[in-house]
Amino acid sequence: MVIAAVLAGGTGTRMGSALPKQFIEIAGVPIIIRSIQKLIGNPNVDRCVAAVGEDYVAYTRELIGKHIVTAKPVDVIPGGSFRGDTLVKVLAFMEENGLLESIVLTHDAVRPFIDDRIINDNILAARGYGACNTCVPAVDTVLMSKDGRYIDSVPPRSTVFHAQTPQSFDAAKLYGLIRQTPPEIFKTMTDGCSVFIWHGEKVFIVKGSENNIKITFPEDIVRAEVILKGGQDS
Ligand code: CTP
Repeated sequence: MVIAAVLAGGTGTRMGSALPKQFIEIAGVPIIIRSIQKLIGNPNVDRCVAAVGEDYVAYTRELIGKHIVTAKPVDVIPGGSFRGDTLVKVLAFMEENGLLESIVLTHDAVRPFIDDRIINDNILAARGYGACNTCVPAVDTVLMSKDGRYIDSVPPRSTVFHAQTPQSFDAAKLYGLIRQTPPEIFKTMTDGCSVFIWHGEKVFIVKGSENNIKITFPEDIVRAEVILKGGQDS
Protein backbone atom coordinates (compact mmCIF):
# COMPACT_ATOMS: atom_id res chain seq x y z
CA MET A 1 0.00 0.00 0.00
CA VAL A 2 1.12 3.57 -0.65
CA ILE A 3 0.08 6.21 1.86
CA ALA A 4 0.45 9.95 1.35
CA ALA A 5 1.13 11.78 4.63
CA VAL A 6 0.32 15.47 4.37
CA LEU A 7 2.26 17.32 7.06
CA ALA A 8 0.19 20.34 8.03
CA GLY A 9 0.74 20.83 11.77
CA GLY A 10 2.66 24.10 11.48
CA THR A 11 1.47 27.61 12.32
CA GLY A 12 3.23 29.47 9.48
CA THR A 13 4.90 32.18 11.58
CA ARG A 14 6.91 33.51 8.59
CA MET A 15 3.69 34.01 6.61
CA GLY A 16 2.38 36.24 9.41
CA SER A 17 -1.30 35.49 8.72
CA ALA A 18 -3.93 34.73 11.37
CA LEU A 19 -4.90 31.54 9.55
CA PRO A 20 -2.05 28.97 9.22
CA LYS A 21 -0.72 29.29 5.64
CA GLN A 22 -1.84 25.80 4.57
CA PHE A 23 -5.47 27.00 4.84
CA ILE A 24 -4.99 30.16 2.74
CA GLU A 25 -6.89 29.97 -0.56
CA ILE A 26 -5.23 30.27 -3.96
CA ALA A 27 -7.80 30.89 -6.69
CA GLY A 28 -10.55 29.83 -4.29
CA VAL A 29 -9.01 26.53 -3.13
CA PRO A 30 -7.09 26.15 0.19
CA ILE A 31 -3.43 25.20 -0.27
CA ILE A 32 -3.78 22.01 1.81
CA ILE A 33 -6.70 20.89 -0.36
CA ARG A 34 -4.65 21.43 -3.52
CA SER A 35 -1.88 19.21 -2.07
CA ILE A 36 -4.32 16.47 -1.00
CA GLN A 37 -6.04 16.54 -4.40
CA LYS A 38 -2.72 15.99 -6.18
CA LEU A 39 -1.73 13.08 -3.93
CA ILE A 40 -5.04 11.25 -3.68
CA GLY A 41 -5.61 11.82 -7.41
CA ASN A 42 -2.51 9.79 -8.29
CA PRO A 43 -3.56 6.23 -9.22
CA ASN A 44 -0.61 4.73 -7.30
CA VAL A 45 -1.56 6.37 -3.98
CA ASP A 46 -4.03 4.27 -1.97
CA ARG A 47 -4.95 6.60 0.91
CA CYS A 48 -4.04 9.86 2.53
CA VAL A 49 -3.45 10.95 6.13
CA ALA A 50 -3.39 14.70 6.83
CA ALA A 51 -1.91 15.77 10.17
CA VAL A 52 -3.00 19.26 11.21
CA GLY A 53 -2.95 21.41 14.35
CA GLU A 54 -5.33 20.05 16.99
CA ASP A 55 -7.65 23.06 16.61
CA TYR A 56 -7.95 22.49 12.86
CA VAL A 57 -8.97 18.82 12.71
CA ALA A 58 -12.72 19.48 12.38
CA TYR A 59 -12.15 22.40 10.01
CA THR A 60 -9.91 20.27 7.74
CA ARG A 61 -12.49 17.46 7.66
CA GLU A 62 -15.07 20.05 6.61
CA LEU A 63 -12.82 21.36 3.82
CA ILE A 64 -12.14 17.83 2.56
CA GLY A 65 -15.89 17.09 2.53
CA LYS A 66 -16.48 20.25 0.51
CA HIS A 67 -13.64 19.99 -2.05
CA ILE A 68 -12.48 16.39 -2.43
CA VAL A 69 -14.33 13.69 -4.29
CA THR A 70 -12.62 10.30 -3.97
CA ALA A 71 -13.45 6.72 -3.05
CA LYS A 72 -10.08 6.45 -1.26
CA PRO A 73 -9.83 7.06 2.53
CA VAL A 74 -8.60 10.53 3.56
CA ASP A 75 -7.97 10.64 7.33
CA VAL A 76 -7.33 13.75 9.41
CA ILE A 77 -5.39 13.45 12.66
CA PRO A 78 -3.80 15.92 15.12
CA GLY A 79 -0.16 16.77 14.34
CA GLY A 80 2.70 17.35 16.77
CA SER A 81 4.68 20.20 18.30
CA PHE A 82 7.48 20.07 15.68
CA ARG A 83 7.60 18.62 12.15
CA GLY A 84 9.28 15.39 13.23
CA ASP A 85 6.66 14.98 15.96
CA THR A 86 3.92 15.34 13.33
CA LEU A 87 5.64 12.62 11.30
CA VAL A 88 5.67 10.34 14.37
CA LYS A 89 1.92 10.97 14.89
CA VAL A 90 1.30 9.80 11.30
CA LEU A 91 3.43 6.67 11.76
CA ALA A 92 1.69 5.88 15.08
CA PHE A 93 -1.69 6.23 13.32
CA MET A 94 -0.50 3.90 10.56
CA GLU A 95 0.69 1.32 13.10
CA GLU A 96 -2.60 1.49 15.07
CA ASN A 97 -4.51 0.88 11.85
CA GLY A 98 -2.33 -1.95 10.55
CA LEU A 99 -0.89 0.22 7.75
CA LEU A 100 2.79 0.23 8.66
CA GLU A 101 3.83 -2.32 6.01
CA SER A 102 3.53 0.43 3.39
CA ILE A 103 5.40 3.07 1.49
CA VAL A 104 4.78 6.47 3.06
CA LEU A 105 5.16 9.65 1.00
CA THR A 106 5.65 12.51 3.46
CA HIS A 107 4.70 15.81 1.85
CA ASP A 108 4.61 19.42 3.06
CA ALA A 109 0.99 20.59 2.86
CA VAL A 110 2.35 23.91 1.60
CA ARG A 111 3.80 22.48 -1.65
CA PRO A 112 0.67 22.35 -3.80
CA PHE A 113 2.50 22.09 -7.15
CA ILE A 114 3.71 18.53 -6.72
CA ASP A 115 3.07 16.49 -9.89
CA ASP A 116 2.48 12.86 -10.86
CA ARG A 117 6.02 12.36 -12.18
CA ILE A 118 7.49 13.30 -8.78
CA ILE A 119 4.97 11.12 -6.92
CA ASN A 120 5.63 8.09 -9.16
CA ASP A 121 9.42 8.49 -8.97
CA ASN A 122 9.16 8.71 -5.16
CA ILE A 123 7.16 5.49 -4.96
CA LEU A 124 9.64 3.63 -7.19
CA ALA A 125 12.66 4.95 -5.26
CA ALA A 126 11.18 4.20 -1.82
CA ARG A 127 10.37 0.64 -3.00
CA GLY A 128 13.86 0.19 -4.43
CA TYR A 129 16.03 1.94 -1.85
CA GLY A 130 13.94 2.29 1.35
CA ALA A 131 14.26 6.09 1.47
CA CYS A 132 14.36 9.00 -0.95
CA ASN A 133 14.23 12.77 -1.00
CA THR A 134 13.01 15.07 -3.79
CA CYS A 135 15.77 17.55 -4.65
CA VAL A 136 16.81 20.15 -7.20
CA PRO A 137 20.45 21.10 -7.93
CA ALA A 138 21.56 24.39 -6.34
CA VAL A 139 21.61 27.28 -8.81
CA ASP A 140 23.55 29.71 -6.60
CA THR A 141 26.84 28.87 -4.94
CA VAL A 142 26.27 27.84 -1.31
CA LEU A 143 28.67 28.94 1.47
CA MET A 144 29.21 27.27 4.83
CA SER A 145 29.61 29.50 7.88
CA LYS A 146 29.26 28.40 11.50
CA ASP A 147 29.17 31.92 12.97
CA GLY A 148 27.47 33.81 10.13
CA ARG A 149 30.41 36.25 9.99
CA TYR A 150 33.17 34.37 8.19
CA ILE A 151 33.03 31.74 5.46
CA ASP A 152 34.35 28.33 6.54
CA SER A 153 34.09 26.55 3.19
CA VAL A 154 32.57 26.65 -0.29
CA PRO A 155 31.28 23.22 -1.33
CA PRO A 156 31.48 22.61 -5.11
CA ARG A 157 28.11 23.63 -6.53
CA SER A 158 27.69 20.31 -8.31
CA THR A 159 27.52 18.63 -4.87
CA VAL A 160 24.81 20.92 -3.46
CA PHE A 161 21.04 20.35 -3.74
CA HIS A 162 17.90 21.97 -2.37
CA ALA A 163 15.57 19.55 -0.60
CA GLN A 164 11.88 19.63 -1.44
CA THR A 165 9.20 17.07 -0.60
CA PRO A 166 7.92 14.37 -0.86
CA GLN A 167 10.39 12.36 1.11
CA SER A 168 9.32 8.75 0.87
CA PHE A 169 10.12 5.69 2.93
CA ASP A 170 9.56 2.11 3.80
CA ALA A 171 7.29 3.16 6.69
CA ALA A 172 8.13 0.28 9.05
CA LYS A 173 11.86 0.87 8.60
CA LEU A 174 11.47 4.63 9.17
CA TYR A 175 9.47 4.10 12.38
CA GLY A 176 12.00 1.51 13.59
CA LEU A 177 14.91 3.90 13.00
CA ILE A 178 13.09 6.81 14.69
CA ARG A 179 12.56 4.60 17.75
CA GLN A 180 16.30 3.86 17.83
CA THR A 181 17.19 7.57 17.67
CA PRO A 182 17.83 9.36 20.99
CA PRO A 183 14.91 11.82 21.52
CA GLU A 184 17.26 14.80 22.02
CA ILE A 185 18.85 14.05 18.62
CA PHE A 186 15.50 13.42 16.90
CA LYS A 187 14.26 16.84 18.11
CA THR A 188 17.02 18.52 16.08
CA MET A 189 15.96 16.73 12.87
CA THR A 190 13.32 18.19 10.58
CA ASP A 191 12.66 15.14 8.44
CA GLY A 192 12.75 11.38 8.00
CA CYS A 193 15.76 11.51 5.65
CA SER A 194 17.93 12.92 8.45
CA VAL A 195 17.00 9.88 10.54
CA PHE A 196 18.14 7.47 7.80
CA ILE A 197 21.40 9.41 7.31
CA TRP A 198 22.09 9.54 11.08
CA HIS A 199 21.88 5.73 11.13
CA GLY A 200 24.26 5.43 8.15
CA GLU A 201 21.48 4.40 5.73
CA LYS A 202 21.42 5.56 2.10
CA VAL A 203 18.82 8.07 0.87
CA PHE A 204 18.22 8.16 -2.90
CA ILE A 205 17.78 11.51 -4.69
CA VAL A 206 14.65 11.95 -6.82
CA LYS A 207 14.63 14.87 -9.25
CA GLY A 208 12.28 17.63 -8.09
CA SER A 209 10.87 20.55 -10.02
CA GLU A 210 11.30 24.33 -9.92
CA ASN A 211 7.50 24.70 -9.61
CA ASN A 212 7.36 22.49 -6.50
CA ILE A 213 7.77 25.58 -4.30
CA LYS A 214 7.16 25.71 -0.56
CA ILE A 215 4.81 28.52 0.34
CA THR A 216 6.59 30.27 3.20
CA PHE A 217 6.33 34.07 2.84
CA PRO A 218 3.47 36.30 1.54
CA GLU A 219 5.31 36.78 -1.78
CA ASP A 220 5.11 33.01 -2.35
CA ILE A 221 1.32 33.33 -2.64
CA VAL A 222 1.87 35.73 -5.55
CA ARG A 223 4.34 33.27 -7.10
CA ALA A 224 1.80 30.46 -6.68
CA GLU A 225 -0.85 32.53 -8.48
CA VAL A 226 1.60 33.13 -11.33
CA ILE A 227 2.29 29.37 -11.61
CA LEU A 228 -1.46 28.69 -11.75
CA LYS A 229 -2.21 31.47 -14.25
CA GLY A 230 0.71 30.41 -16.46
CA GLY A 231 -0.74 26.89 -16.68
CA GLN A 232 2.47 25.44 -15.22
CA ASP A 233 0.55 23.42 -12.62
CA SER A 234 0.21 19.88 -13.93
N1 CTP B 1 4.75 21.12 9.99
C1 CTP B 1 4.06 20.13 10.67
N2 CTP B 1 4.07 20.10 12.05
C2 CTP B 1 4.77 21.03 12.73
C3 CTP B 1 5.49 22.04 12.05
C4 CTP B 1 5.48 22.04 10.66
O1 CTP B 1 3.42 19.27 10.04
N3 CTP B 1 4.71 20.99 14.07
C5 CTP B 1 4.60 21.20 8.53
C6 CTP B 1 4.03 22.54 8.07
O2 CTP B 1 2.62 22.61 8.29
C7 CTP B 1 4.46 22.59 6.62
C8 CTP B 1 5.74 21.76 6.61
O3 CTP B 1 5.85 21.12 7.87
O4 CTP B 1 3.49 22.00 5.76
C9 CTP B 1 6.97 22.62 6.33
O5 CTP B 1 7.22 23.50 7.41
P1 CTP B 1 7.30 25.08 7.34
O6 CTP B 1 7.16 25.57 5.96
O7 CTP B 1 8.47 25.51 8.15
O8 CTP B 1 5.92 25.46 8.04
P2 CTP B 1 5.61 26.19 9.40
O9 CTP B 1 6.36 25.55 10.52
O10 CTP B 1 4.12 26.23 9.50
O11 CTP B 1 6.16 27.66 9.05
P3 CTP B 1 7.08 28.65 9.92
O12 CTP B 1 8.42 27.95 10.03
O13 CTP B 1 7.11 29.91 9.13
O14 CTP B 1 6.39 28.80 11.26
